[in-house]
Amino acid sequence: MKKKLLSTSVVLVSLLFGLTGCGNSSAASGQDSATPQETVAEAPEAEASEEGEKTEERADSLATEEAAQVSTEQESAVTDNDTTAAAASEDRGSASRSNTLVVYFSRVGNTDFQETVDADSSASIRIDENGPMGNAGQIAAWIADASGAETMEILTEETYPADYNETVSQAKQEQSVGFRPLLKADEKAVEEYSTIYLVFPNWWGDLPMPVYSFLDAHDLTGKTVNVFVTHEGSGFSNTVGTIEELEPGAEVRQGLAVQGGSVTDEEQNIRQWVNDNRN
Ligand SMILES: Cc1cc2nc3c(=O)[nH]c(=O)nc-3n(C[C@H](O)[C@H](O)[C@H](O)COP(=O)(O)O)c2cc1C
Repeated sequence: MKKKLLSTSVVLVSLLFGLTGCGNSSAASGQDSATPQETVAEAPEAEASEEGEKTEERADSLATEEAAQVSTEQESAVTDNDTTAAAASEDRGSASRSNTLVVYFSRVGNTDFQETVDADSSASIRIDENGPMGNAGQIAAWIADASGAETMEILTEETYPADYNETVSQAKQEQSVGFRPLLKADEKAVEEYSTIYLVFPNWWGDLPMPVYSFLDAHDLTGKTVNVFVTHEGSGFSNTVGTIEELEPGAEVRQGLAVQGGSVTDEEQNIRQWVNDNRN
């Protein structure tokens, strides 16, 4: 029943995503429907129509993996807490530490690209002097610059496949069983910041599963959480509502939904939002 509902919602997201080619946010409007990203982002729609045995097989295997993971979760939580405590004490050493942290997840930082990445073959990737950067990473960098914040990337223990379509497929299967990937230890003491910008791509009309892992690991009570999403037509979907449910003690604010294909045109809007919404 749950799977059926999910399938229905996936088809709906795909329809929205594939048919309209435009987002539901101001920042996403007016885009050219012939961008390379859209071609790439149609993959979930194709995948949605192939649901069935293949998904079930993978779901079963993920369910087994999940069970194994649950058994290691407590151990991992302890490790993470220790590491977070260490990061916290390091942070305390810096008198000038900002009270704002930009936390982002992007496919780019969570994929092992074997060779030099070809930006043309993967339109959501830009290469600069610091290496490949995804859309969420770019948005996070502008927010950090505009707000004087520090940044932290959500990194999974296991990387996603370099092949885009394989990642699309895997993400759908992970989502269908509520999989929570293990994360690498936080590089910052998240609990010590009062404002968190949370930046991530829309994955199948939802938060990427690693962002769920991050939210599961942290109690953001008392903090302001500004949500920024990058997408290829779905906008925020219900991500803001989901974060509100997962973090009932936080003040969750909808930031901007930025279409990946036009992210470079949105720099000023993003900086403006940060300036207009300082705590
Ligand atoms: C696994 C996966 C699922 C996606 N699902 C959607 C979706 O449902 N709706 C949408 O608008 N875009 C979807 N996209 C497109 C991404 O949200 C978009 O390309 C985003 O800008 C990528 O950001 P990044 O470069 O930081 O990873 C999906 C991309 C991937 C990899």
